[in-house]
Amino acid sequence: MAGSETTIRGAGGNHTSAILDLVPADLLDDRFGLASHRALSLAETFGTPLYVMDEDSIRYRARRYQAAFRAAFPRVELAYASKANSTLAVLKILHQEGFAIDVASIGELEAARRAGIPASDCHLHGNYKTDLELAVAIGNQIGAIMVDSLDEIEQLRRLQPGQIECVLRLAPGVAPDTHHRISTGQADTKFGFNISDGSAEEAVRASLAAGLNLKGFHCHVGSQLLDPDAQRGGGEELAKFALDMRQRGLFTARYLNLGGGIGVRYTEIDHPMPVEDYCQLVVQAVIEPLQASGYPIDQLTLAQEPGRYLVAETGVTLYRVGPVKQTPVRTYVAIDGGLSDNPRPAMYEAQYDVELIRQGERAQWDVPVDGPGAVFGSPGLTKVTISGRHCETDELFRDVELPADVQNGDLVQVFTTGAYNSSMSSNYNRFTRPATVLLRPDGTAELVQARETIEQLFQRESLPKDLQ
Ligand code: LLP
Repeated sequence: MAGSETTIRGAGGNHTSAILDLVPADLLDDRFGLASHRALSLAETFGTPLYVMDEDSIRYRARRYQAAFRAAFPRVELAYASKANSTLAVLKILHQEGFAIDVASIGELEAARRAGIPASDCHLHGNYKTDLELAVAIGNQIGAIMVDSLDEIEQLRRLQPGQIECVLRLAPGVAPDTHHRISTGQADTKFGFNISDGSAEEAVRASLAAGLNLKGFHCHVGSQLLDPDAQRGGGEELAKFALDMRQRGLFTARYLNLGGGIGVRYTEIDHPMPVEDYCQLVVQAVIEPLQASGYPIDQLTLAQEPGRYLVAETGVTLYRVGPVKQTPVRTYVAIDGGLSDNPRPAMYEAQYDVELIRQGERAQWDVPVDGPGAVFGSPGLTKVTISGRHCETDELFRDVELPADVQNGDLVQVFTTGAYNSSMSSNYNRFTRPATVLLRPDGTAELVQARETIEQLFQRESLPKDLQ
C-alpha cells in the first residue's frame, strides 16, 4: 500500500517484499502495521494504550470494495457500518470515498452529522427504535429507515415519514459459520422479519397499508464470515422473496441490501476471500434467481454495508508492557490496557497477532537465542499470556510467542484492531479510554480522538447533598 508502513507478516515474522511474488494471493498479508521506530515515537508522543489508524489503508480498502462491487453489478450502493469505528475522521474519509453511512443509533447519526455528513446520506438500523429516534431521523430527512418489526411499522404509520425510503430487514433463515454472538441470519434471531414463517410477507402488506415508501429488502446474516456460504444463501433467499412478492403482485423491490460481514485476517489461520471474488459471488447469488424469472433487474440497485473489512486491518493498538511475572504454569506479561479497550477476546474468544517492540537500547535483532523460558517455537521466543490490567482474568492474548527477554517498558503492537475496538471500549474499573491517532497520507500523525481524562469520567455524576 503506497505511503503506509506495510509489512508482510506470516506466522509470527516480518518478511521483505522479495518473496511477494511467491505468496498465493489469499495468504498475502497486507495489514497495516507500524515499523518499530514509528511505534516507539508515537507511543512517546501520544502515550499508551493508543489506537493508530492509517488513512491510506482505509482509502485503499474503500476503493477496492467500490471497484469490486461495481465490477460485479452496474447499479450499486455501499454504506459503511459505522458501529465498526465511528471516530469522526474515519466516517469522513469513508464518506469522501463514496460510502453512505449505516447508523444504528441517534448517537451514530450525530457522529455522522458532526463529521459533516448529511442525514440523507445515512440509513438507520436497529431492532428497537424509540419514537424520539425515529422522529429525529425523519426530521433530518434520513436517507432510509431499515425497518425491523411490525411494531416499528406501526410507529412509522403514526410518525408519518412521508417520502422517506423504508427497507424491510429480513431474516433469511441461514446459519453462518461464525461466533454465535455475531450470527444474525438464522431463523432464531431478534433481527428482522422471518421469511419462512410468513412474517416478511406480513411486513410487506403492513408497510404498504401504512403508506410507507417501501423501496426493498435487506439482510445481514452475520459478521467475520470467512466462508461466504451463508451470505450466498442469504442473498438467494432475499432474491427469492423479492421474486415471490412481485409474482404475487404485492410489491416489486427496487433495492436489495446484502448487509456486511466479509471476514478479515486476525491471525494467520484466517484466510478471507478476496473482496473481488466475494462481490461476484454474492451478486450472482441474488441475480441468478431473478434473471431466470424475468425480474426487472435494470431497475434494481444492489447494496452492501461492510464495516470490519474497511477498517479492521487498517488499525493497530500500541500498549506498554508492565510487570512480567513467571508462574509455575505460564509467564504473564501485563500491558496497560485490556478488556476496556478491546473486549473482543472476552466476548468472542477473538485472537490477534501481536508483536513486541523493544524499548531503548535493546535493538529489534537483539533476540537471545537461548533466553530464559525460551522453550517453544523459534529460538529466543517464549510463549506468554498477555494480560490486561482489569480486575478480571482479563487474558487478552493467550499463548502468544514473544521474544523471551520481554520486559517492563517494551511496547506491544496488536494488529487488526481498527474495527470493534475503539467503538466497543468502556470505562470498566474507571480506566480512561485510549486516544486515536490518524496517520495522514503526508506522513504526519494527527490526534483525532483525545485520551479520555479522569475529569471526564465524572462529568455525569453528582453526590446527593446529604452524602457530601
Ligand atoms: N450491517 C448490519 C445490519 C450489521 O448489524 C453489521 C454488524 C454490519 C452491517 C457490519 O458487519 P461487518 O462487515 O462489520 O461484519 N462486535 C462484533 C461485531 C458485531 C457486528 C454487528 N453487526 C465483533 O467485534 O466482532
